[in-house]
Amino acid sequence: MTFDRAYWEQLWTKTLREHPDKVAQRPPNAHLIAEVAGLRPGRALDAGCGHGAETLWLAAHGWKVTAVDFSASALAHGQSTAEALGADIAERIAWVEGDLAVWTPPRDHFDLVVCLYVHVAGSVEDMVRRMASGVAPGGALFMVGHRPIDPATGKPTAAASQVQVSVESAAAGLDPNGWERVVAEERPRAVAGTGVDAVILARRVT
Ligand SMILES: C[S@@+](CC[C@H](N)C(=O)[O-])C[C@H]1O[C@@H](n2cnc3c(N)ncnc32)[C@H](O)[C@@H]1O
Repeated sequence: MTFDRAYWEQLWTKTLREHPDKVAQRPPNAHLIAEVAGLRPGRALDAGCGHGAETLWLAAHGWKVTAVDFSASALAHGQSTAEALGADIAERIAWVEGDLAVWTPPRDHFDLVVCLYVHVAGSVEDMVRRMASGVAPGGALFMVGHRPIDPATGKPTAAASQVQVSVESAAAGLDPNGWERVVAEERPRAVAGTGVDAVILARRVT
């Protein structure tokens, strides 16, 4: 299977049409809330933002967010949700259509770069490096990846055919002299029986 723009655009169009309630009710990511709630708000990038649940949460908590995805339908949905929530939220968010396989954040620009459950074509280590390049000194990189095998059962998960970030690939992509690993571990996912997530929070020290 190819997880390209056409695949995601079709999936988002179908999901937003057939399950708007589920999409609207999906809470923002629990790992993100746990790790980021204590950070001082500034400029954030939500790379692979989807329909924007985390982007909206960040904006509501004072962050000025750049939200990037290559699905135009997901971005349009996120933008209209933000507008319905009010100008104070909507004006904090820039929705950007871009392909994260090549899109590079402005260097040293963001206080927080978030990248949740994104599989891109090419090396995941390169993706980690690309995302890390957008973090300003003192800022944070937060990435989560659904692991392909459920350690409890040894069976493939819904992410089995994707290559998402792992603890190992994040370590390989981040220079240990420039980054402090605050969290780098596998944690159970919110939905029981769906395996584990690799959760990475790293702080740029230089
Ligand atoms: C599994 S969803 C996760 C969405 C959101 N981060 C979340 O946690 O709910 C993956 C998202 O990444 C986007 N995506 C995948 N590959 C991408 C790429 N190469 N460039 C931009 N967006 C991409 C998809 O359109 C989709 O919205």
